[in-house]
Amino acid sequence: MYDQVRKTDPAIAELLELELGRQRSQLEMIASENFTSRAVMETMGSTLTNKYAEGYPGKRYYGGCVHVDEAERLAKRRAMELFGAERANVQPHSGSTANMTAYLAFLKPGDKILGLSLSHGGHLTHGHPVNFSGLLFEALHYEVSPETETIDYDKLRDQALAERPRMIVGGASAYPRFWEYEKLRSIADEIDAILMFDMAHIAGLVAGGVHASPVPHCDVVTTTTHKTLRGPRGGLVLSRKEHFKAINKMNFPGIQGGPLMHVVAAKAVCFHECMQDEFKTYAQAMVDNAKALGEGLLAKGFHLVSGGTDNHLLLVNVSNKGLTGKAMEELLEHVGITCNKNTVPFDQESPFVTSGVRLGTPALTTRGMGVAQMGQIANIIDGAVQNRENEDALNKLRTEAEELCREFPLYPGM
Ligand SMILES: Cc1ncc(COP(=O)(O)O)c(C=O)c1O
Repeated sequence: MYDQVRKTDPAIAELLELELGRQRSQLEMIASENFTSRAVMETMGSTLTNKYAEGYPGKRYYGGCVHVDEAERLAKRRAMELFGAERANVQPHSGSTANMTAYLAFLKPGDKILGLSLSHGGHLTHGHPVNFSGLLFEALHYEVSPETETIDYDKLRDQALAERPRMIVGGASAYPRFWEYEKLRSIADEIDAILMFDMAHIAGLVAGGVHASPVPHCDVVTTTTHKTLRGPRGGLVLSRKEHFKAINKMNFPGIQGGPLMHVVAAKAVCFHECMQDEFKTYAQAMVDNAKALGEGLLAKGFHLVSGGTDNHLLLVNVSNKGLTGKAMEELLEHVGITCNKNTVPFDQESPFVTSGVRLGTPALTTRGMGVAQMGQIANIIDGAVQNRENEDALNKLRTEAEELCREFPLYPGM
């Protein structure tokens, strides 16, 4: 592996080897990460990276686009079929540029948007003040209820009626529950607002038929392609026919230059994979695993935000265990589990410290782990918390995590 890189640049070759080793030997529980197929990676490492193709299939600003045109058409057709959308733009370089495209196709700078607060599970691009979305628009935020820790749709409606935002944004980075698309649609209709849904986290669950699709309810739906969808890093915008021209024009030339055609083609491969029966099984297993892990942690006295999960992630408030999110992230890393600290609703700690961690099952499920392994991982997590001052015990837990990784090899033969 990496023969050419080793010849040209041994320093980078070594880092590639080390990173492969790290991915193989740790329990990857970052909810937004996954392991793509070799086919997706091969496509990303192909000659398509050489091609400039500003514009859209059949209407490019460069010659020689005959093959990349076909790849982009395939990606678009498959995205539309997979998600039942009228139109798809497969060019966004990332989830953030997909969201920028959607906002600027419908809004003018200074318009009001209403999205889920970052500290309640939303994403930076849903109007956080340090992000372009908060800098360009007047961003308002809705929250979860303190009692149920689930979205308070009545309060959201009151806010929408009082503030009359031009756009309501659904979707999240750290929200473990189903979304009520019908409620969002009816609130948007009451104030004649545009409804956008960012399904970046749950796109694979939607593609696999485990979660309902936001597409029929929304004016525009955005996603990343690299999380539960298990494709290359990138973004996607799905829309109704009537909005498609504005969206295309905003993505290029509005925001981006030349599309990353190697990534566009890899998105086509990903969508093809998502259409297979095996992916439906995978999507269901991500949810089954998250539920099993949640039950294991609840039994050990962990506080799961909202009491559990309907999707691929858990948000665990570890303050009742005498830990901050930062300390918990470090402790889990010590025993071979990679995750990220995360604010929890109404968090008293700063975003650099936090009171929680977010745990996801997409990557472990790709390795083939199931509910039995989730029970084992819940025990490792609990063991780490109980024995946090005991280096020998932590080393044993780390060995257990490494053995689990060996039982479910990643990229065998690579
Ligand atoms: C809900 C949501 N939207 C958008 C993004 C941004 O995606 P990217 O990192 O590709 O810009 C993320 C990434 O974490 C996300 O969780």
